[in-house]
Amino acid sequence: MSDTDWQAKLLAPTDPVEVMKQKAALRALEQVKSGMKLGLGTGSTARYFVDGLGAKVAHGLQVICVPTSEATRAQAESLNIPLAELGDLQRLDLTVDGADEMDAHLRLVKGGGGALLREKIVAAASNAMIVIADDSKLVDNLGAFALPVEVNMFAHQATAQAIADVLHQTGNAGDITLRGGADAFVTDGGHYIYDCDLGRVNNIEQLASALLNVPGVVEHGLFLGYATAAVLAGSDGLQEVGKL
Ligand code: 5RP
Repeated sequence: MSDTDWQAKLLAPTDPVEVMKQKAALRALEQVKSGMKLGLGTGSTARYFVDGLGAKVAHGLQVICVPTSEATRAQAESLNIPLAELGDLQRLDLTVDGADEMDAHLRLVKGGGGALLREKIVAAASNAMIVIADDSKLVDNLGAFALPVEVNMFAHQATAQAIADVLHQTGNAGDITLRGGADAFVTDGGHYIYDCDLGRVNNIEQLASALLNVPGVVEHGLFLGYATAAVLAGSDGLQEVGKL
């Protein structure tokens, strides 16, 4: 398959940041080989990866994939990308996904698109995870992007209060806001999301485990130890972190 064959029908962004995101996605796509089992991320950057993957599948690439959201499932189905249940595949070779923030240790904040629960389940089942993003996502300290925490709908205000207590106990502080407010956002799993505007996340590991101990918390957007590499696109080219 020549490059031009499969690239002919790709999305063609014109906005410079979108162009960078697509470049990061297509670099990650170079790592995909026939026969692989893949996790497909969610968001505007992952969309370029799925788009490119669909083009390669149309030209004979053989993969089987697990989407991390209904939006990604719909895109993958529209491109005839073969899909399967994670339970049937068990382990995946690679997941490619975006991020809201990433630090130099490949620690991530995710969930800006509301798909953090499925994204984390899929990342945890993957032997490798490549993050794709524009380089504005690389930060010295996580937390300028509000940390999403997915909660069960039942008594969610009480869960939010317990989250506030955990933030305090772990040396963190900031406003906690129900995503969508009166018209609350509902995740694919039927949950709400509280966004914790921390400014800077302190005691990351401690906070990550303490949040999971709150009854009602389903998952949070700190992805620690999942990403194995990242491709970050900037105006001066691609930067790779970790080993692709
Ligand atoms: C969705 C996510 C996305 O990966 C994250 O929000 C980044 O999205 P984008 O590529 O659109 O900036 O975590 O839950």
